[in-house]
Amino acid sequence: MRFSTAAAAFGLPLLAAAEGDFVQQYLGQAQALFNKYIPSPNRHDPVGAAEAKVGEMKMHTLTLSNWNETLFSNTKATSTTPDEWWVFITGGKKACFGRCEDTERAWNETAAKFAVTPGAPHTALLNCEDQPVLCHSWSSPPGALWAFEVLPAPNKVNVWVKGMNLTTTTSDDFAGMQKTIKEKGYNGTMYEHTGAFHPYHGFVANNGLAIPAGYAIWILNLVPSWAFMIGISMFSRYFVGRSARQTMETSGRQADAARAAPANRR
Ligand SMILES: *[C@@H]1O[C@H](CO)[C@@H](O)[C@H](O)[C@H]1NC(C)=O
Ligand SMILES: *[C@@H]1O[C@H](CO)[C@@H](O)[C@H](O)[C@H]1NC(C)=O
Ligand SMILES: *[C@@H]1O[C@H](CO)[C@@H](O)[C@H](O)[C@H]1NC(C)=O
Ligand SMILES: *[C@@H]1O[C@H](CO)[C@@H](O)[C@H](O)[C@H]1NC(C)=O
Repeated sequence: MRFSTAAAAFGLPLLAAAEGDFVQQYLGQAQALFNKYIPSPNRHDPVGAAEAKVGEMKMHTLTLSNWNETLFSNTKATSTTPDEWWVFITGGKKACFGRCEDTERAWNETAAKFAVTPGAPHTALLNCEDQPVLCHSWSSPPGALWAFEVLPAPNKVNVWVKGMNLTTTTSDDFAGMQKTIKEKGYNGTMYEHTGAFHPYHGFVANNGLAIPAGYAIWILNLVPSWAFMIGISMFSRYFVGRSARQTMETSGRQADAARAAPANRR
């Protein structure tokens, strides 16, 4: 579960006075989350690292304001073959609990390899630590590779997704995937994104809701879960209380009517 230290910092002093036990409990949970992460042994890919130095990476960084123009930067209105973009979704201590670093490094090395490989996809990085709203608007958790087959509208932009194994993935694995896709295609190698949060054709994007949804989910994530629970319980108590009163009033009226009915029949 995600939480924000900023929100915690704002929320804690306020609640500390009223809900001392809650805060202790929450901090305890946060501590447990961090302690759960055991860093994986340091892995090094000397070949990949050497290539990263020699070749220029040519890797783009996606942001809320540049993602679409970046993905469309090589696509003309007359383009008929898809322009391939591979985006690794990453995160740091908060968004990925520090587990993405090794795979991100492998991805960086892959970007360097692809930069000098003819016909390889363009590469980009999306860091959910830096771009929480974009990540939420795509509903794209860190640790996955997203491949875009970009074609000008009204063509469909296919999006393929594959979650990477964050403890074992090397740049050779990414390169191997690319080889497999060149031979067999995306379908069957990666999963087609058909969900509501598809960046181009999902329900959310079609209705212009991607960015508002991104902000809304982001804000919900900023609210620590215990504060959220307090909010829900106050909210539901209010409405349950109100509807219970209504039910009682209604059944009271029905009872009155029932009592009145025999009298009417006479
Ligand atoms: C992305 O950019 C292309 C080309 O400029 C444009 O046709 C398309 O409407 C844009 N899509 C989104 C979701 O912004
Ligand atoms: C990967 O490359 C990006 C962009 O150059 C850089 O910001 C990031 O620190 C690199 N990540 C790792 C783990 O080396
Ligand atoms: C990643 O790979 C290791 C070694 O093959 C395996 O033990 C582990 O379960 C894998 N993790 C996931 C999330 O698939
Ligand atoms: C992928 O293959 C499945 C079944 O084999 C098919 O239904 C689907 O339309 C294909 N997706 C694309 C984007 O071609």
